[in-house]
Amino acid sequence: MYPDTNSITDDNPHCVETLMEFPSDLILFLRRVERVSALTGAGVSQESGLRTFRDTQSGLWAQYRPEDLATPDAFERDPKLVWDWYAFRREAVKAVRPNLGHYSLTEMEKKFPEFTLITQNVDGLHQLAGTKNVLELHGNILRVRCAVCGRFTETWGSDLDSVPRCDECDGLLRPDVVWFGESLPRLELESAVTASRRAQVFFSIGTSGVVHPAAALALAARENGSVVIEINAEPTPLTPRADFVFHGKSGEILPALVKAVWDISIQV
Ligand code: APR
Repeated sequence: MYPDTNSITDDNPHCVETLMEFPSDLILFLRRVERVSALTGAGVSQESGLRTFRDTQSGLWAQYRPEDLATPDAFERDPKLVWDWYAFRREAVKAVRPNLGHYSLTEMEKKFPEFTLITQNVDGLHQLAGTKNVLELHGNILRVRCAVCGRFTETWGSDLDSVPRCDECDGLLRPDVVWFGESLPRLELESAVTASRRAQVFFSIGTSGVVHPAAALALAARENGSVVIEINAEPTPLTPRADFVFHGKSGEILPALVKAVWDISIQV
């Protein structure tokens, strides 16, 4: 494979802790590969000002219990509490912009002949940064649909005392996100598995790699001979299985990588 010179952890000789330094053989490889997939998580949007889920202090799950807010049972039990929590998060998403990490991935899409962006994020920031081929595995918080008939709607009542209802069937409206215990959208998941298996290079960026089935995609790619590159602020269960690991902020590492591979400076 592609041994590297600098390592930070004994159990993974290919770890590199410097932000701007990339193994020359990796750079050469990235200049000639064609099929690339990138899986992203909440860490990619952290530098835009959105909280992640599992960061010890700042993560949403450090303050809120997922079983109270992000499950069908929670919505059944207290739909208003769940609706209001997603409404608060939706406003937070609307208030932020993509960062250099998002724009770097848009540039990569232009450079790699076959590029698939697989995201767990529900914030739509990849699309806002101009990335086209985006598979949303966990839905999108900016979309709302009926919990009964499934009909999507762009508009809903502004009565703050109750959960808005579907114009067609009067069912409760809910955010179009995947809650714990729910299945992922079949088409997006199948396309993500296919793209991961076809990839010559698979990036895992800003994700703790603990939520399945998304967390299994990197290993599916690796089993099919893909070079796996992890970019994350801290080690994850994937770290020992990755071919290259860059620990730090994706909004710094991704633009530096684009600069090193194609001599392009990413601008916001
Ligand atoms: N750059 C790179 N990585 C970062 C940054 C950053 N600026 N900031 C944080 N990280 C890393 C954290 O160290 C952590 O490992 O991003 C990861 C975010 O992990 P999680 O908070 O667990 O988010 P994610 O992996 O996307 O969660 C998966 O879980 O709660 C559900 O549905 C939700 O899609 C989500 C899924």
